[in-house]
Amino acid sequence: MPQKPTKPIYVLNGPNLNLLGVREPDIYGKTTLDDISRSCVDLGKALGFKVDFRQSNHEGVLVDWIQEARTEASALVINPAAYGHTSVALLDALKTLSIPVVECHLSHLATREHFRHQTYVSKAAAGIVAGFGAKSYDLALQAAAHLALHQA
Ligand code: DQA
Repeated sequence: MPQKPTKPIYVLNGPNLNLLGVREPDIYGKTTLDDISRSCVDLGKALGFKVDFRQSNHEGVLVDWIQEARTEASALVINPAAYGHTSVALLDALKTLSIPVVECHLSHLATREHFRHQTYVSKAAAGIVAGFGAKSYDLALQAAAHLALHQA
C-alpha cells in the first residue's frame, strides 16, 4: 500500500482574486475568495489533506510560494489569474516541481478574449479546470488529491 502523503495541498491565487465577489461578478460570480478558501479547507479535510490557501497580487511572491511547495506540499493547485497568460517566471518555477500541479480558473477561458486562450502555466500542469465558477476549485482540489495519492 502506498503511504498517504502528509504534507498539505497548496492552493495559490494570483492578482485581483482578492476582489472576488465584487470584481466583474457577471464573469467571476459573487462568491468571495474567503468563501472559496473555507470550501477548499473543508473539502481537503474530507479528502484527508490539509489545505494551505494563499493569494498574492505579486508575481515574485507567487514564485517564492511555488518554490516553497517543492519541499512543503503534496500537490499544488494554482489559479494564476492574469499572470497565467504572461508569466514565464511562474512557468519556470512550476517546472522545478515534482509534485502534481493542477491549474484552475473560474471562467471558461476558451470562450473569452483571444489573449486568455493560452496560459504558460498549462505547460507545467497535469491538467486544467476552467469554467465552473467557484466550483472549479473543488474539482481542481479533487484532481490534485487524486494525483498526490497515486503518485506517492
Ligand atoms: C481567471 C481568468 C484570467 O484570464 C483572469 O485574468 C483572472 C481570473 C479565472 O479564474 O477565470 O484574473 O484566472
